[in-house]
Amino acid sequence: MKIPVGVLGATGTVGQRFLQLLAVHPWFEVVAITGSERTAGRPYREGVNWVIGGEIPAAVADLIVQPTQPTLAINGRPPLAFSALPTNEAREWEPQFAAAGYAVITNASTFRMTPDVPLLIPEVNPTHTALIPTQQANNNWRGFIVASPNCSTTSAILPLKIFQDAFGLQAAMIVTLQAISGAGYPGVPAMDITDNVIPYISGEDAKLENEPKKLLGTVNQGQLTLANIQTSAQANRVPVLDGHLASVSARLGRRVTAEEAVEALLNWQPPAICRELPTSPEKPLVYRPEPDRPQPRLDRDAGQGLAWTVGKVRTCDVLDIRYMAITHNTLRGAASGAILNAELLVKQGFIGN
Ligand SMILES: NC(=O)c1ccc[n+]([C@@H]2O[C@H](COP(=O)([O-])OP(=O)(O)OC[C@H]3O[C@@H](n4cnc5c(N)ncnc54)[C@H](OP(=O)(O)O)[C@@H]3O)[C@@H](O)[C@H]2O)c1
Repeated sequence: MKIPVGVLGATGTVGQRFLQLLAVHPWFEVVAITGSERTAGRPYREGVNWVIGGEIPAAVADLIVQPTQPTLAINGRPPLAFSALPTNEAREWEPQFAAAGYAVITNASTFRMTPDVPLLIPEVNPTHTALIPTQQANNNWRGFIVASPNCSTTSAILPLKIFQDAFGLQAAMIVTLQAISGAGYPGVPAMDITDNVIPYISGEDAKLENEPKKLLGTVNQGQLTLANIQTSAQANRVPVLDGHLASVSARLGRRVTAEEAVEALLNWQPPAICRELPTSPEKPLVYRPEPDRPQPRLDRDAGQGLAWTVGKVRTCDVLDIRYMAITHNTLRGAASGAILNAELLVKQGFIGN
């Protein structure tokens, strides 16, 4: 029997991706969806402006959009809700859902840096779920919140994790070239982004600087210690539909050659538990040796949009090593990444039927 789930903010770009992916998921089945006052009370197919291609999944097309309140009938243990709510709505509702006993797997940025909320990527820090009991005790909650990182942090992070483990990591400078879909729908006005690059995405530089410290930190006895690394970031919006590209330079624990760095990427194996997750890609990291890869159009869909594609790995005269990496922002960077987090939580026993 599949685990019943809800999707909060199901009408947005990320909400639509959730419904598309969950319609064919082997473990999860959508039984409840929520929207704003604009859509609540209407059948999903009438309320949604479906913008992600393909058809609205038949199983949800006639579901009635409900108001976002922690009274949704979801019979899992605990009831599981994926959240694609905007930041402010997440701040209001996600703690109420957690207090009412729901497991909330969120894409919103609101609680990402809260010390007892796991900021989770199964390939990077699967043991950080040990923060969940701490969070429940701190808040007297029966449920909990687990957050996915910012979609642009996600692009940069896996090679940093691999280099941290192999050589040590002291600092990272990250410049991103981020897709329009990262701004939700309708997102950036065409008159602003066509023939242009916008060197500002509100709050994004700080997310890119803070989130790696948490993702690369350690959790011991239910307590988080941030990684002791210096970070500096500059985010840019570029006229690409999907796929956030990151240009990264890193200072490592020692000088390494480009060959050593590439070898570390090629030798990397995901944590063993990732092999047990049904949507985990066969190859989570694709290394491209060509001088002109990765590219958004060519590489964002690698591993069904769940793989990192990494290239241009070279030594850096200022820091130690530099590379380019891309992930799909609404798949790995949002809905697919959150679903993978839920699969991990099932395997670790935090979620069940
Ligand atoms: N786009 C990305 O690549 C990406 C990546 C990572 C994380 N995120 C995060 O994911 C979240 C959703 O982003 P998005 O791109 O999907 O935004 P979006 O396209 O602007 O959609 C937001 C949706 O939230 C809904 N909403 C607003 N108030 C609500 C409420 N009180 N209850 C329920 N739903 C409500 C709206 O529903 P109605 O249609 O019913 O008005 C709207 O469809 C944001 O927190 C964003 O920062 C986005």
